[in-house]
Amino acid sequence: MSGASGVMVPSKVRNPSLAGKGRERVDWAIERMPVLAELRRRLSKKKPFRGRSITACLHVTSETAHLALALRDAGARVTLCASNPLSTQDDVAAYLSRDENVGVYAIHGIDGKGYYDHIESALAVKPFITMDDGADTVTMIHTKRRDLLRGVIGGTEETTTGVIRLRAMAAQGKLAYPVIAVNDSKTKYMFDNRYGTGQSTIDGIIRATNILLAGRVIVIAGYGWCGRGVAMRAKGLGAHVIITEIDPHKALEATMDGFVVMPMPEAAKQGSVFITLTGNCSVIRREHFLAMKDGAIVCNSGHFNVEIDIDALESLARSKRVFREVVTQYNLRNGRRIMLLGEGRLVNLAAAEGHPADVMDMSFANQALSAEYLAKKARSLKKRVYVVPSFIDKEIAALKMKSMGTKIDRLTPKQVKYLASWEFGT
Ligand SMILES: NC(=O)c1ccc[n+]([C@@H]2O[C@H](COP(=O)([O-])OP(=O)(O)OC[C@H]3O[C@@H](n4cnc5c(N)ncnc54)[C@H](O)[C@@H]3O)[C@@H](O)[C@H]2O)c1
Repeated sequence: MSGASGVMVPSKVRNPSLAGKGRERVDWAIERMPVLAELRRRLSKKKPFRGRSITACLHVTSETAHLALALRDAGARVTLCASNPLSTQDDVAAYLSRDENVGVYAIHGIDGKGYYDHIESALAVKPFITMDDGADTVTMIHTKRRDLLRGVIGGTEETTTGVIRLRAMAAQGKLAYPVIAVNDSKTKYMFDNRYGTGQSTIDGIIRATNILLAGRVIVIAGYGWCGRGVAMRAKGLGAHVIITEIDPHKALEATMDGFVVMPMPEAAKQGSVFITLTGNCSVIRREHFLAMKDGAIVCNSGHFNVEIDIDALESLARSKRVFREVVTQYNLRNGRRIMLLGEGRLVNLAAAEGHPADVMDMSFANQALSAEYLAKKARSLKKRVYVVPSFIDKEIAALKMKSMGTKIDRLTPKQVKYLASWEFGT
């Protein structure tokens, strides 16, 4: 395929002729990402990635396109592949590969083998930095493509589940290069996980089903950053929210936030919509399906499609039927029906457009600045998982506030002195 500059960019996308539609979508997102736009201007002057390759395994959406363009303008040869088979926006993939010299290996709805083939193809550029949302490229490099390890100076990781996987690798001494946990930056998890997942998960459920949430009993598994966000929004829409948890602190917090907390076997009998956001596996399983009411809607917004035991659901069903493209109705042998959304994959991406650009602005500003930090400092870092340096996190918060026209107070000299001393107190 040929980019705007005439350079051939190897890619695999559904249909290059969708590029025009993709451009519209990306332009719309760019308008809502002022922090990344500012960093893009700065990085394009400095060119910290000049002549180097970056492989990014992220949801191929309009917001990710903006990040890819920023990295490209900063001098990198960027290759993008999807971090989820159902999250790719085919028009965005077409635009980047046809018009913007970004290599893209992503097709919406690709099967499991195609998904991993795409990651492998995206690694053919021999990256010096990897970017992940779920640690799939890191895993592939550490297993199938160890030959690439020598060229990689570091990586970044976007999500909670990926960070958990990477910390497990580091604890076992298996991680072969430093990775920055973008997820663990305040300007990421406090906003993306809470407000982004909060809004977009509800958006996905509504787009998939068009149900009224007011008056319904919604069961949310996991009261972490994502679960809190979804619970807050569901309550705002008039739903009765039940939380299930395994952590007593989180359960207590949910209780004091005004939610009803109970174990899943009890919640299963009461809910009409179930949403998992735990990063754990088999959170909704056979015995829970058997206890659910007729017509219960079940979906997941945690990273992998392992939170709902779909094999158990399949084994309980005598038949199934697909409605509205993303709803699979399972007709159970006990006579009840269960509706699974988006094959148990991230419902906000399978049935909607993922997080709004306004919030991805900060997440991807963290990605861009963490990659720049790696380009400068990776050689002095150890083979472990790092948090985003606090100067980067603070700068992003300040830039976002500025873009929103919000100002805050500054410490007076007296306050600085007071906070730094231990003699005061009376
Ligand atoms: N949908 C999205 O776009 C999106 C965005 C960000 C993160 N994520 C993913 O969402 C998941 C949650 O992320 P987070 O940042 O909220 O993590 P978190 O660690 O803040 O919260 C997870 C919560 O789930 C609870 N939990 C674990 N096992 C459970 C079980 N069996 N039953 C009930 N609760 C259980 C934990 O105690 C914890 O409170 C991760 O997989 C993350 O990668 C998705």
